[in-house]
Amino acid sequence: MEELLQQILQECRPYTGQGALASYIPELARQDPDRLGIAMFHKDGNMVEAGDSRRCFTIQSVMKPLLLLLALQDNGRETVRAHVGVEATGKPFDAINVADNALLAKHLNPMVNAGAILMCQLVGGETYDQRFARLLGFIRRLAANEKIDLDEEVYHSEKATGSKNRALAYLLKAHGLIRGDVEELLDCYFRACSIRVSAADLARIGCVLACHGQLPDGQRLFPAAYGRFVNANLMTCGMYDGSGDFAIRVGVPAKSGVGGGIMAVVPGRMGVGLFGPALDEKGNSLAGIRALELLSARLDLSVF
Ligand code: DON
Repeated sequence: MEELLQQILQECRPYTGQGALASYIPELARQDPDRLGIAMFHKDGNMVEAGDSRRCFTIQSVMKPLLLLLALQDNGRETVRAHVGVEATGKPFDAINVADNALLAKHLNPMVNAGAILMCQLVGGETYDQRFARLLGFIRRLAANEKIDLDEEVYHSEKATGSKNRALAYLLKAHGLIRGDVEELLDCYFRACSIRVSAADLARIGCVLACHGQLPDGQRLFPAAYGRFVNANLMTCGMYDGSGDFAIRVGVPAKSGVGGGIMAVVPGRMGVGLFGPALDEKGNSLAGIRALELLSARLDLSVF
């Protein structure tokens, strides 16, 4: 299996040159665009990896499904549904989804920035420090890696330059969707995006979602129904306005981040983590998607 991954990486390396680093967060533009890594974590607990699978990068939007999972656990499905929609926006991840009419929570989903910013409010905790600490602890448990921590440089870079997210959050506040202090909420969102993980971590987390909350040793980390909720949302919205194309080319629930990570969930089988920081025009890892496409074809992973 390791040879298969090595071979896929070799075939996909030329694609790194066709993508571009995310430059709107200055610290992300300092990455090496030629990095490429893949890890597969099977439900029996077996990890197979190749390339830069242990190199750390910031999780960015791959934290959104994990934020949603925590919000589901803390509030239940009905409350979450009342606070955010589930329909694909068909727009870029940072789009300001507003026309002349009112902006309603149902116009958003938890995978776009505005929806994820709303989700930060639903995580249990009295302060945003506590909410962030709970999210970090949850991600560490999902990845079985206590070393996962914040990338301070990316966090400060993102906080200093996040005007678009700030605009989005104040717009949500203006439409009555945010209670309390917007800056504290945004700080929690920026920190959540700046958590450092590797492709191997994402493979493990993806596998817990693939097994609807169960670890290889039988321990349960969240109710199966919440895993299905999140996986369905990933299938329709996880790759933003590229979700339809991804469903055809790869055919599994997945989430991308502008740090170059992709977490793919192969229901009932495995999690796959990708790292390739050169992105396509939609903010998804270009070589990462190609690698997943090849892997899906070779191992017959598509759920369709
Ligand atoms: O909010 C932002 O702009 C970033 N911290 C996260 C966006 C992101 O990862 C979009 N994914 N492809």
